[in-house]
Amino acid sequence: MNPTNKVALVTGGAVRVGRAITLALARAGAHVVINYHHSADAALETAAEAEALGVQALAVPADVSDPAQVERMAAIVADRFGGVDILVNSASLFLKTPFPTRDHDPWHRVTAIGIDGPYYCTNAFAPGMLAKGAGVIVNILDLSAWEPWPNFLAHSVSKTALLAMTRQFALELAPAVRVNAVAPGPVLAPPEYTAEQIERIRRRTLLERWGTPEDVAEAVLYFVRAEYVTGNVLFVDGGERFGHRKPASRGR
Ligand SMILES: NC(=O)c1ccc[n+]([C@@H]2O[C@H](COP(=O)([O-])OP(=O)(O)OC[C@H]3O[C@@H](n4cnc5c(N)ncnc54)[C@H](OP(=O)(O)O)[C@@H]3O)[C@@H](O)[C@H]2O)c1
Repeated sequence: MNPTNKVALVTGGAVRVGRAITLALARAGAHVVINYHHSADAALETAAEAEALGVQALAVPADVSDPAQVERMAAIVADRFGGVDILVNSASLFLKTPFPTRDHDPWHRVTAIGIDGPYYCTNAFAPGMLAKGAGVIVNILDLSAWEPWPNFLAHSVSKTALLAMTRQFALELAPAVRVNAVAPGPVLAPPEYTAEQIERIRRRTLLERWGTPEDVAEAVLYFVRAEYVTGNVLFVDGGERFGHRKPASRGR
């Protein structure tokens, strides 16, 4: 799909990695819908930046874990643009969920945003894509879909579910709609990470550096354009998934 003059919605599209995806799509000529939950000011700033690139932009608040809010967002987008051609499910909650626990609330919050969110959003926007006969959906995963991370049970399970949904939606929505996923490695540290954590993660990658949110955005654009690719995953991780295989003789 040529993104020029198409309409793209990015969940969590106002800040950080989501913002980079929004702006890359705008740079490629797509009109952008910026879904946000708490980052209202950032959403307006990102919309202004997108408009400065010569496309239309709309910031829409919605908690993706709430089906009524997602339906309301879809109605607002339908009014303005008549639907979307591209959906990027990027919203996520990176929260520790130690296990076992007596507090089940963090589990429900993380899985509601990470599993129910893309389910509700895809459910809301896929019918319009099917009616048009074309659409592209890109889900943003994490390496935790393939490996357990200590203290991140809900995050890991959510990303594994999103991987399964990627394959399942690719099947259910074919041939009109292609569904793929990007699995980033370290591209943007959470603000609370220490310099020591950042350095340890850098050393874990084969390329010995952090990537950037723009690296993830490039992979999203690849899937938008790749007409014969569906049900697939692209790792954008600097080789982090093989970092533990580095030869000890190289002194790292
Ligand atoms: N950063 C990395 O290095 C990295 C590595 C691997 C994978 N990823 C994946 O890439 C994606 C973006 O990462 P990030 O680091 O930019 O994430 P982040 O800093 O944790 O930002 C989370 C985003 O999700 C949105 N969000 C959270 N709850 C929401 C809800 N209920 N409804 C709608 N939006 C909600 C936030 O919107 P508001 O701010 O508006 O509330 C924000 O835009 C995530 O899927 C993450 O798992 C990132």
